[in-house]
Amino acid sequence: MKAIIQLLKEAGSHIVPFRWENETFSLLDQRLLPHREEWIVCNSWQEAVSGIREMVVRGAPAIGITAAFAMVLAVRQAVKEVPKEYKAFLRQAAAQIKKARPTAVNLSWAVGRMLKVLDGSEHDQIYEVAVDEALAIWTEDVQANIEMGRLGGMLMEDQKGILTHCNAGALATGGYGTALGVIRGAVRQGKGVRVFADETRPWLQGARLTAWELMEDGIGVTLNVDSAAGVLLSSGRIGAVVVGADRIAANGDVANKIGTYMLAVLCKENGVPFYVAAPSSTFDHSCPSGAQIPIEERDMEEVTTCGKYRVAAKGVSAFNPVFDVTPSSLVSAIITEKGVLRPPYDKAISTLSN
Ligand code: MRU
Repeated sequence: MKAIIQLLKEAGSHIVPFRWENETFSLLDQRLLPHREEWIVCNSWQEAVSGIREMVVRGAPAIGITAAFAMVLAVRQAVKEVPKEYKAFLRQAAAQIKKARPTAVNLSWAVGRMLKVLDGSEHDQIYEVAVDEALAIWTEDVQANIEMGRLGGMLMEDQKGILTHCNAGALATGGYGTALGVIRGAVRQGKGVRVFADETRPWLQGARLTAWELMEDGIGVTLNVDSAAGVLLSSGRIGAVVVGADRIAANGDVANKIGTYMLAVLCKENGVPFYVAAPSSTFDHSCPSGAQIPIEERDMEEVTTCGKYRVAAKGVSAFNPVFDVTPSSLVSAIITEKGVLRPPYDKAISTLSN
């Protein structure tokens, strides 16, 4: 983990959503940010899964890395508790970990990658192999973010506003961020940027996490309600919208936080570029289009309440899809660590799987 912290330090960033120290995996409880910084120790793979399900940790790449460490915890349990049937134990744990949340493909990608190396390992080395692979997944994510930041930063206009949605920052990844990584990259390149952060109902990732992260780094940020995006995008103040992604289909359709599709339509209407920043682990080459992406729906209470406070009349019905799909026709470019992809996306995306 020290090497990862050093990598981030050199890139001018310090926030991480998890720790692996003294053989212990802990999660920063993002539900309490920015008011309280509390860490939750995961003693079992089941506790890591609960952390994903209950939004202690969120954001596609961060969910993937947590899943990799959940596999480390499963290996530790298997070797200790069922040494003779450890392979069956791991397969069952992996199936459950994959189900923690449905939309972010980084989750099944990371579990698949862990299973692959574990399958080829000897019993007496399996724990060390698991730890090394989870740390490699984390390290590669940070490296990818820094590279996306460099490539995406070059696309940002100097002295223009950048609007972002949800939190696709250090907290949503292994560190540095995807969309916020692009913003950090633009700042490192000496560009003057002002970030506009959608508050992002109902979990308020924009208000609680994005605004806090950028303030921590001294990057100018203004918070707006989600419905102010139209006014901003028609005002001429915004040079680009940059968002992250939970899953990108083979044709370039993008699943991301609910409200992203509205932004893409507004960008088209107002002639503002709409950029998606995502590492190659977010591409699902087996998914032909957005129509096949599973979209998570969460409890109605997330809509009828605001934090702990009830807002709507008791008993009212609510619609709470957590993500939406933006058709690739509305995406100006997809920024990856392997290059900036432009339409036609099916062709550009197929080169990533090589
Ligand atoms: O429900 P969340 O907070 O997990 O949703 C997160 C997002 O939609 C992010 O934009 C996406 O995961 C990209 S994170 C780099």
